[in-house]
Amino acid sequence: MPSSASVPALSARDIHVWHATLAATPENLDGATQMLPAGEREKTALVASEAQRARLTLSRAWVRGILARYLNQPAPDIAIRRSPRGKPQVVPRDNDAPLHFSVSHAGDHMLVAITRSDDVGVDLERMTRLADVERIAARFFSRGEYDALLALPREQRADAFFRAWVRKEAVVKALGTGIATAFDAFTVSMGKDPQQEIDVTGITGVDRQRLWVRLLDIGRVDYLAAVAFSFPDAKVHHAEWK
Ligand SMILES: CC(C)(COP(=O)(O)OP(=O)(O)OC[C@H]1O[C@@H](n2cnc3c(N)ncnc32)[C@H](O)[C@@H]1OP(=O)(O)O)[C@@H](O)C(=O)NCCC(=O)NCCS
Repeated sequence: MPSSASVPALSARDIHVWHATLAATPENLDGATQMLPAGEREKTALVASEAQRARLTLSRAWVRGILARYLNQPAPDIAIRRSPRGKPQVVPRDNDAPLHFSVSHAGDHMLVAITRSDDVGVDLERMTRLADVERIAARFFSRGEYDALLALPREQRADAFFRAWVRKEAVVKALGTGIATAFDAFTVSMGKDPQQEIDVTGITGVDRQRLWVRLLDIGRVDYLAAVAFSFPDAKVHHAEWK
C-alpha cells in the first residue's frame, strides 16, 4: 500500500492498517494541533503532563488525518462519537458509505485499522518482561488457553502469552464491549498461525457467532499486533502514516 500521499480504494473485503509514530517534534505537534476541532484542542490542553498532552494530540490528530483521506473531508470536520462502552465511531454524513475504525497505542507507536464492511478491532502490545505470566493468565485466560500456556516449556511462555493477549484484545476491540467483557469467555490461539477463527458465542451481550483474528507484522521486534474482523477472507494491508 502506498504512503499517506494517496489512499487506495477500500473494498468490502479490505482492511487497511496504518502504523504511525507518536514521537513528538515541534513541527509535527503544530501540524497535529491544526487537525483537531476546537473542542478537542481545548480538552487536550487540559492534560497537565506535557508528554501526555503531546501523545494525545498526535494520536487524535493521526486518527483524523487517516480518516480524512477516506472520507474526503477536512480532518477537524469529521464527527466522531463514542459508543456507550467507549468505542469511537465515525458519524456518517448523508451519502457516505460506512467507515469503521479501531485504534491502539503502545510505547511511541499506534495502529489505526479501517474497514468499510463491519466492525474491526486492532491491538498493539509492547512485549515487556512479565515476571509471572501464569498468574495473569490464570485470571484472564480461558481454561483452554491457560492449559495450553502451562503445557509449553517455561522459556516459551512469555511470547506465547503475548500472542494470546494481543489476539484477545483485538477481538474485544472489534466487539466494542471493552472491560465489561469476560476475557475468559472465548479462546484464542497462542501459536504463530497467521489467522484464526474465534467462537465468540460465550460472550455476554454479543450477537455474533464468530470473528477472525490475524497477527500482524509491523516490522518492530518488541511489538506484537493483531487485527480482528467479521469475515473470513479479509485482505489486510499494512502501511506507514507519515
Ligand atoms: C479499553 C480497551 C478496549 C483497550 O485498551 P488498551 O489496550 O489499554 O489500550 P489501546 O491503546 O489498545 O486502546 C485504546 C483505544 O481503544 C479504543 N476503545 C476504547 N473503548 C473501546 C471499546 N469499548 N471498544 C473498542 N475500542 C475501544 C479507543 O480508540 C482508545 O483510544 P482513544 O481513547 O485514544 O481513542 C479494553 O480492551 C481494555 O481496557 N481492556 C482491559 C485490559 C485487560 O484486562 N485485558 C485482558 C486481555 S487478556
